[in-house]
Amino acid sequence: MGIEARLIKQKIGVEITGINLSQPQSDDMLSEIRRLWVDHVVAVFPGQIVNDDQHIAFSQRLGELELINMAALQCEGRPEIYEATNLDKDGNIMTDDHPILTINRGNQKWHSDSSFKAVPATASMLHAYIVPEEGGQTEFANMAAAYEALDAETKELCEGLTAIHDFYWSRRDVEEQAFTKAERDAIPPARHPLIRLHPETGRKAIYVGSHTREIEGWNFAESRALIERLIVHGTGPEFTYRHDWEVGDMVLWDNRSALHRGLAFDDQREKRRLHRTTIAGTGTTL
Ligand code: OGA
Ligand code: MN
Repeated sequence: MGIEARLIKQKIGVEITGINLSQPQSDDMLSEIRRLWVDHVVAVFPGQIVNDDQHIAFSQRLGELELINMAALQCEGRPEIYEATNLDKDGNIMTDDHPILTINRGNQKWHSDSSFKAVPATASMLHAYIVPEEGGQTEFANMAAAYEALDAETKELCEGLTAIHDFYWSRRDVEEQAFTKAERDAIPPARHPLIRLHPETGRKAIYVGSHTREIEGWNFAESRALIERLIVHGTGPEFTYRHDWEVGDMVLWDNRSALHRGLAFDDQREKRRLHRTTIAGTGTTL
């Protein structure tokens, strides 16, 4: 059986059907999938019946996996799986002030996964188990297409700049005591080029998001203004795709060239649980 690929939007997204991700894939199939998702930044695989082990096994074909650094964010017994959820380990909705819920709500800001690491993630793949009736979609932005659409002056301004990314900047609204000192020390700020060269496509992409604190050597207010301007530009309608989740959907995206964010939902009434694997990067970005 061959796979079918349908472009979702001109500048972002491909839907891949005719494939069963619970089964091992051939090397040829893997390279076809890799070509499709790298070219289109986001690949959607609807209606997969896949468990965590199969999700991990498929993801490992794309590269080594990151292990989730905070135990409270992991799926029990599986450090390869991050749970994007408002539910506790018993399946109950977390209270409004629960620090883990606050950390997870941080995903509602545009970001690139683990850009706070010196070697940030190559890709991530979410699998939907429980989805709310309303809201809770995930949006993706093609930051390579956004780079190409910048005016020449802004491209020149950004060239050669280095940005500082910091997990505790994007989570500055989370109570101090939610993190142990060891957890803080384990994630020091990281430096990345503001304009990142994609190692597989050779395309340049704007590399900023919620973890980006400031631009090295710039004053703070000017840093913030440029970072926010780039995020607003990159997440405009022509560069973005909004995924409306159905249970069983799997979505794979390229963190080197995409921003993403979860949209809000009524997390004190409705339930949502998605599992994510994270494909580790292969080197530093500078
Ligand atoms: C993530 C993430 C957004 C969402 O899992 O990395 O940002 O919609 N999730 O849950
Ligand atoms: Mn994320």
